[in-house]
Amino acid sequence: MRNKVTKAIFPVAGLGTRFLPATKSVPKEIMTLVDRPLIQYAIDEARAAGIKEFIFVTSRGKGALEDYFDQAPQLESELRKKDKTELLDVLESTNMESGAIAYLRQHKALGLGHAVWCARRLIGNEPFAVMLPDDVIAAEKPCLQQMVEAYEEVGGNMVAAMEVPRDKASSYGVLDIQEDMGAMVSVKGMVEKPDPGMEPSNLAVIGRYILTPNVLGNLNKMRAGSGGEIQLTDAIAQEIGNDDGVYGFRFRGQRFDCGSKAGFLQATVSFGLARGDLKDDLRRFLTQVVATEKAAE
Ligand code: G1P
Repeated sequence: MRNKVTKAIFPVAGLGTRFLPATKSVPKEIMTLVDRPLIQYAIDEARAAGIKEFIFVTSRGKGALEDYFDQAPQLESELRKKDKTELLDVLESTNMESGAIAYLRQHKALGLGHAVWCARRLIGNEPFAVMLPDDVIAAEKPCLQQMVEAYEEVGGNMVAAMEVPRDKASSYGVLDIQEDMGAMVSVKGMVEKPDPGMEPSNLAVIGRYILTPNVLGNLNKMRAGSGGEIQLTDAIAQEIGNDDGVYGFRFRGQRFDCGSKAGFLQATVSFGLARGDLKDDLRRFLTQVVATEKAAE
């Protein structure tokens, strides 16, 4: 019987410079798609996959994230006084069990691999998930849950994977495919942000991982890789050829790159259109905007 995956690391130490000036005082993970912060989507996805312990790797200026997951007694008592039960329910859905979230700081911005390594003592000797909240995935069955189910079958190290246009591959970790089994591929190599034209395939790593504790051991000895940073991709790649191996998992769902402005806007529109209370007005508005644009061409 395989160990259950119950812990997830959320690397949230990044400065979010692509969203300045907004991120001058607001962590980018608090930025909202419709009315829920990015981090809430990640937490909901993790919960659906059976995660019980949530480890946030933060940095200076991320206090708003801790407040977000705290009780809000004054707000709650005001809402209760006014009998706003629906809003109280909304708040309730953000409550976390006491002790379920741990926050620790990455003291130096040395890369994603280093951020994950910072959580090593809280992970111990168990498989664990890593979720990058910038990657928001809309899916009927949440992406991490799909991965946990696949992991229960095959074990090993698993990364979410998605085909991307070749000319975009250099923004991602890219898989060198050993065997393509459809939803799953076995991997014989992984390259972080390959130079244009040097990508081994167009199958890119997306920010969901299920990893063995060996990867943390590999990070103990890591040196800087692509971009001068300690890369998670390199530490995972070291497991290729070992007993557990590395798999790419083609998830079912639509991924939005909410670390970019274009991706964030697309996610906002898409999540708005998925909301019963907003979709009719939004669709009408979008149709109008497109028609006006076309007429002006
Ligand atoms: C990180 C990973 C990269 C992965 C990407 C997915 O890169 O290092 O392997 O493909 O997330 O979003 P970042 O986008 O943080 O530079």
